Amino acid sequence: MSKEKSKPLFFCDACGAQTVRWEGRCTACGAWNTIKEFRPAKLPGAVHAPHASPVSMPTPLSEVRQDNAQRLLGAGAELNRVLGGGLTPGSVILVAGDPGIGKSTLLMETLTGFSQTWPVLYVSGEESLAQLKQRADRLGVVGDRFPVMMENRLEIVIQAVETSAPDILVVDSIQTMASEASPSAAGTVNQVRECAGRLIHLAKTRNMAVFLVGHVTKDGQIAGPRVLEHMVDTVLYFEGERGHDYRILRAVKNRFGSANEIGVYEMGPGGLKEVANPSELFLSERIQGATGSVVFPGMEGTRPVLVEIQSLVAPSVFPQPRRNTLGWDPNRLAMLTAVLEKRLGLGFYNHDIFLNVAGGFRVTEPAADLAVAASLFASLKNLSLDPGMVVVGEVGLGGEVRAVSHVATRLREAAKLGFERALLPEKSMKHVIDGPKMHLGAVSSVEEMIRLLP
Ligand code: TYD
Ligand code: MG
Repeated sequence: MSKEKSKPLFFCDACGAQTVRWEGRCTACGAWNTIKEFRPAKLPGAVHAPHASPVSMPTPLSEVRQDNAQRLLGAGAELNRVLGGGLTPGSVILVAGDPGIGKSTLLMETLTGFSQTWPVLYVSGEESLAQLKQRADRLGVVGDRFPVMMENRLEIVIQAVETSAPDILVVDSIQTMASEASPSAAGTVNQVRECAGRLIHLAKTRNMAVFLVGHVTKDGQIAGPRVLEHMVDTVLYFEGERGHDYRILRAVKNRFGSANEIGVYEMGPGGLKEVANPSELFLSERIQGATGSVVFPGMEGTRPVLVEIQSLVAPSVFPQPRRNTLGWDPNRLAMLTAVLEKRLGLGFYNHDIFLNVAGGFRVTEPAADLAVAASLFASLKNLSLDPGMVVVGEVGLGGEVRAVSHVATRLREAAKLGFERALLPEKSMKHVIDGPKMHLGAVSSVEEMIRLLP
């Protein structure tokens, strides 16, 4: 082990690939002159053994003490749910998102909440103290328990943590931090890996929670290494559509809770406000009775969210008709149109299809298949469907409608918002015990759905 440690390592600055020797060109990504020698920091046990304690012995699980099982509450209800029921001490959370989406705003608000009870520290590597103050004023943060620091030298940040001993630390952003132990510039794979490794080590040894802000590249990846996602405990994406004020905080990895939870916020002049009932927000601009509009009762983690699915099917002038989707997987659309053509003899092949999840929301559940199919059919046939109806079910290649999870929760949410009718899989009917007072239509195939639609 110690022999291995003394060997230099080589990493590509562009893609993070490791090689055994220096090369002019990275064999993984093809970039020239990006292979850099990397020497791990000469700290006892740093980076490569972040969890090591002075004497490490195997322990029976039953005897392991759970001293850090207590969660810190103090952030808003949305963040608490996304984190799986509060912040775990000693955990490291990566908050990634496009520039300007509101990461700094979110973390400043969050930290203000925590600062009422616990000592905190906010380190910014990108904004001056005056800029931070400006944001704080906008958010109405008083901040006498909110120490801030403008710094991008990792060693100084670590020193500050050691002297001020915060329970919660924010580093905004990891791409602006640089350690003396690595020769590369800030933001390169080597630096990001080194700085994140040292901060994680610090979090685990001090039992301090750390939020790392991470920038996202044009294609939506966290800039720098993907390894960052593997190193941290929790990865949250902060997303939003251009032109919309609401933002979604989505857990994509969480060692302390479900990875499907979302938090919904609305950005306003006074910062981010939590949206307690997202369904109302997503349905607020719906035109009742528009052709091709269907409401789908979706689930995001443990929470039901109703969204409107719209489609526009129109005769095409192109030899290859257009297929555009927003908020829905284009491959899934191709499969559904094929199923509808085969089972119902519908002619989509000479029609353009535009499918849209209204409000810029993204639906990934196959449970939305039946709603999409209903929407496509209605648009093709120019039907306006019952505006008081929701549709849910997964569609298989044989045109069969399969059971979905959480039907009772989905329908309860729909009933709460005034929906009176639901089409759902026949196989899910048995789970609607003690269900809401709605008119339920059980369907086992797409043919049956079409018959029940109007
Ligand atoms: P910011 O938190 O700086 O984004 P990030 O850290 O992800 O780059 O937020 C920047 C945007 O948010 C900016 O375009 C202005 C807007 N904003 C508001 O609309 N209201 C507010 O109260 C604040 C603080 C920001
Ligand atoms: Mg920022």
